[in-house]
Amino acid sequence: MPWRTFSEDARLQRLFRDNFDQLTPENELKWANTEPLPGVFTFDEADQLVSYATAHGKRIRGHTLVWGNQLPKWVRDGHWSRDSLLLFMREHIDREMSRYRGRINEWDVVNEAIAGNGGYEQNVFLRVIGPKYVEYAFRYAHAADPDAKLYYNDMGIGLPGHPATLGVLRMVADLKRKGVPIHGIGIQAHMSTRYHLSQSQVADTMRRVAELGLDVAITEMDVRINSPGTPAQRLEDQRRVYEGVARACRAQPRCTSFTTWGISDKHSWLGQSAVPLAFDSAYRAKPAWPTIVRALRE
Ligand code: XIL
Repeated sequence: MPWRTFSEDARLQRLFRDNFDQLTPENELKWANTEPLPGVFTFDEADQLVSYATAHGKRIRGHTLVWGNQLPKWVRDGHWSRDSLLLFMREHIDREMSRYRGRINEWDVVNEAIAGNGGYEQNVFLRVIGPKYVEYAFRYAHAADPDAKLYYNDMGIGLPGHPATLGVLRMVADLKRKGVPIHGIGIQAHMSTRYHLSQSQVADTMRRVAELGLDVAITEMDVRINSPGTPAQRLEDQRRVYEGVARACRAQPRCTSFTTWGISDKHSWLGQSAVPLAFDSAYRAKPAWPTIVRALRE
């Protein structure tokens, strides 16, 4: 949800403070929001959010530095040379990471670079710079904050053997081989009660990530309810999907965190009717919530 919504809702803040130990800004750190025009920086909301989280002892995941979406128009539609886009990309990474150095210690450096077929996703960076933009982004990020944990975050990774999963693992193995500073892979885990991964599938993919010498995190989980049944059955279906993923994370020593993409159904990016989160629109815990907590604590 937008920072403004959160900052004006005392009950929601309380729910967050009592139940979560980490926060990911949903949009505030994306390039379109921090530099809408070249050289015009708008960090007000991100600053407030970071101060709030820090004051309450919550860790922050920096999301996200280089992504083909939610770019300002001047970046997306600019007439770039390779060198000039690299320069602006470097400046963008450097500005954000330096500003929050010591307060944001983990970043999604590159988001969704791999398409569903396992090849590179089309975007301005690929078009102008080529696939090497990913490597540059990680090198710039490491230079900006050598202590930060650097993640590659994707939506397609998860299903073992799927071209998207294989594409991500291939790209990341290649980065590791070249000595590029990368520390982990984020599995977004946007799912539904009809289409979801089982515990063993998530465990399998996580093991492959760990075998590359990387950490892994569940970064944006939600479970849209789209299966038939009574209300209680549907909530139970949802609870089980969350349970499988949370258990897989708990069982994998290199799984560092588990994040849902929002707190309450009221503010989900999928709309209220998708009811994808673990707290309902009235901020009551749904069956998924105690299951997630138990699975992560066991
Ligand atoms: C979404 C936000 O939740 C929305 O508010 C916004 O309009 C679009 O982006 N993968 C990601 C997230 O990495 O940044 C996306 O967040 C959801 C999909």
